[in-house]
Amino acid sequence: MRWWDIDVVNPLEQELFPLDPWSIDQWWRELAQLHNHYFVVESAGELCGYAGLSISGSDADIQTIAIADSFQGKGIGRKLLNQLVARSRELGVTYIFLEVRSDNTSALSMYSSFGFAEISKRAKYYPDGTDAVILRRDNRESSP
Ligand SMILES: CC(C)(COP(=O)(O)OP(=O)(O)OC[C@H]1O[C@@H](n2cnc3c(N)ncnc32)[C@H](O)[C@@H]1OP(=O)(O)O)[C@@H](O)C(=O)NCCC(=O)NCCS
Repeated sequence: MRWWDIDVVNPLEQELFPLDPWSIDQWWRELAQLHNHYFVVESAGELCGYAGLSISGSDADIQTIAIADSFQGKGIGRKLLNQLVARSRELGVTYIFLEVRSDNTSALSMYSSFGFAEISKRAKYYPDGTDAVILRRDNRESSP
């Protein structure tokens, strides 16, 4: 992902995370950080998904991952997550962390199939009172 993708990502962000979308300023800040790695996926020239990883030594955080509504359920999220995991492994990351809404069954199922396991919960973390689940993947134990 590059700065010129922000104008396309921004409306997708509003649709996919209506309660707490990132602002355009936040996207610029994310892309400016050298330890962040952002990707987009395109289908027939149309940007249909995006995801980002933030690396800190041997740890990484998945900052976001999202696929446009009409492209969901076609294996694109899995490909993007695979890309994030692959990049983290190239950079010598041991643990990948992320937080996800406790009611986000699709994402939870995808993460679980990639070897992410719950390590804690943050009660009422999201603006609507939903809990956050903190997941962690050990790159030494899960493959690829
Ligand atoms: C979560 C998300 C990224 C998954 O992307 P996707 O392209 O739809 O997912 P894929 O088609 O690659 O499927 C990957 C896995 O997700 C899970 N999944 C996807 N859709 C699902 C559904 N409707 N119900 C249950 N599990 C589902 C499955 O485990 C699936 O693996 P499988 O096909 O082997 O069963 C996508 O639904 C999304 O963008 N949601 C809105 C934004 C969001 O919630 N992001 C996550 C924030 S933490």
